[in-house]
Amino acid sequence: MIDQLTVERIQSTARIMDVVSDFISLRKRGVNYVGLCPFHDDKNPSFYVSPSKNICKCFTCGEGGTPVHFLMKHEQLTYVDALKYLAKKYGIEVKDTPLTDEQKQAQSDRESMFILNAFAQKTFTSNLFDTQEGKTIGLAYFKERGFREDIITKFQLGYALEERDVFTQQALKAGYKKTYLEKTGLTIVGENNYMADRFRGRVIFPVQSLSGKIVAFGGRILKKEDKTAKYLNSPESEIYHKGNELYGIYFARQAIVKHDRCFLVEGYTDVLSMHQAGIENVVASSGTALTQGQIRLIQRFTANVTILYDGDAAGIKAALRGINLLLEAGLNIKVVLLPAGEDPDSFSKQQNASSFIDYIKTHETDFVRFKTSLLIEEAGADPIKKAQLIGEIVDTISVIPEEITRSVYIKECSKLLDTDERILINHIVKKRKELTAQKKKVTRTQVSEYGATPAAVIPDPTDSYGINEIPPPPPPPPPEGEAFLPETKTIDYPLDQYEQSLLYFVVRYAEYPLYYKDPETKEIPVAVIDFIMNDFRTDEIKLTNPLYQQILDEAYAKFKIEGFKSESYFILHPDPQISRLAVDLASDKYSLSKIHSKFQKIDMETDKLLELIPYEVMNYKSAMLEEQINRLSLHIKQAQETNDTEKLPELFKELATLKEIKTKLSKNLGERIVEKL
Ligand code: CTP
Ligand code: MN
Repeated sequence: MIDQLTVERIQSTARIMDVVSDFISLRKRGVNYVGLCPFHDDKNPSFYVSPSKNICKCFTCGEGGTPVHFLMKHEQLTYVDALKYLAKKYGIEVKDTPLTDEQKQAQSDRESMFILNAFAQKTFTSNLFDTQEGKTIGLAYFKERGFREDIITKFQLGYALEERDVFTQQALKAGYKKTYLEKTGLTIVGENNYMADRFRGRVIFPVQSLSGKIVAFGGRILKKEDKTAKYLNSPESEIYHKGNELYGIYFARQAIVKHDRCFLVEGYTDVLSMHQAGIENVVASSGTALTQGQIRLIQRFTANVTILYDGDAAGIKAALRGINLLLEAGLNIKVVLLPAGEDPDSFSKQQNASSFIDYIKTHETDFVRFKTSLLIEEAGADPIKKAQLIGEIVDTISVIPEEITRSVYIKECSKLLDTDERILINHIVKKRKELTAQKKKVTRTQVSEYGATPAAVIPDPTDSYGINEIPPPPPPPPPEGEAFLPETKTIDYPLDQYEQSLLYFVVRYAEYPLYYKDPETKEIPVAVIDFIMNDFRTDEIKLTNPLYQQILDEAYAKFKIEGFKSESYFILHPDPQISRLAVDLASDKYSLSKIHSKFQKIDMETDKLLELIPYEVMNYKSAMLEEQINRLSLHIKQAQETNDTEKLPELFKELATLKEIKTKLSKNLGERIVEKL
């Protein structure tokens, strides 16, 4: 942990130009600098760096933020590590708040385990290349399966000798402690100091974490006829939480960002083979359904996932399970079914790289469509089955957070299923209500445990290999870095666009004087935030999105403090959602396009505040009234339909009042627009 004062010092010292230009070459353009965006495949420079605001932003893919944000994204650092990186760069001393003895112990335990795992990996690799047994059995096996030596080396593959405890003895002799041998699971410790190597006579696949450290091993048997499980894996430990790791992520992360897509396969060998075929943006779920932790890991790099599975029945089942979780996270899912009986490993070996990629391109299906047509086939003409099927599809669509995406799917599925769109919509609305209710419950309990929004760690019911007998420890708190991820939206705010327009001015100009009560002497200024708050207070208006209202309230409270600068205050806000929003609103391009469309020509925005802000306020109110009128009209219609005539006069009166206010407002708005043009 870094204390708040140091955090602030680092943030105020770090210059965005220094930080970004360590990675990207930038050219001056106006008051800003531009370069090729490192976060997507950029052809024309669309990555802007604003030295004055100390932020960067890509106007194509939207990535960017403060120096800390940039480093977190570009170097895949956690929040704390990004701060440390900057501290080092600027020679700022970071005093980590002293760890408790318990924390120290835990930290050195973890470090010792990593060091031991590194030793184990080196030993297994040298067994593979330098021992007779390793060469004739292990290496021969990899060669027979067609793995090239550069791939074997890159993935640090190895071989465990077929002896009871040769590795354990080697490790002890080299000075590694028995406790860590036991904790990493490399050694199985029994009664009376009995010790045996976990991995014996197996080829070894080390599992690298995102940062390349070895957290676990998988060992594959070589003989077919054995009744023992094909793979033996390290147990869960302080450094290995299966549900938070993805095999291959360390070697895939950059390619995933570059192609803005992640291929998801089942196993170790699939990952290896795809790399060998030149496709590097691939990770494996290791034979189990994805967990939330794994999904969040993918989400750090892309929102697009393509699942590659065997086209036989089992493969299809595997492709279907756990997918709702991915959709729920807002990811776009595609599915590629390989010819029946083929996995990416076997299939890629019959193809060359380009024909493999071609196959993927031509066989890629959108997940919802895939599932729908699959189920249609299954249901045939059976009406009961069809009803069930509609239920399942509806469940799948319901979890998608984006309203627009949902509506596209609803349209499509209604055609595919030959079912009225409205029926689907009704079901989905109902289902979403249930989901929101559930989500609220879950979030509450978790927040109390960790004090932040953690990953929901969902027990993995499909993890049925029964090898890792030791029950998994409780989930670790989420890494701090993940806090910067935009939260998936679950609520749609109809007035969002208008509220954002208002916030745009609040974030940029809250403290700017809008006018002076005494224009002569320029005394008694009324600031932007004053104006807005006073107006809203009079009409008792609150923004519908609580996060936005929070920003408004905070700006109003802080503005009274000397020297408050809204823009940098919100950009550096500790709440990542607020900070992210502030960066978006503070970016130059946003302002240009916006003002452009509204008034044709661009003036200095700050000179126009007195026109722009009252206009935005009224615009918002007008939209709000419109909403209310719509809702009321619906009420009236319902009352009429159900012959609930008692309430009607009251409702009509209310409607008339609203419409009257609306007319006044519109007139006012219209006049202002005419004035301006
Ligand atoms: N797996 C496991 N334990 C098993 C079987 C499978 O942990 N007993 C995991 C492994 O991570 C494996 C993945 O599930 O990589 C997929 O299983 P499978 O397709 O059977 O293995 P492959 O990786 O394809 O291995 P191979 O090609 O060598 O059969
Ligand atoms: Mn395989």
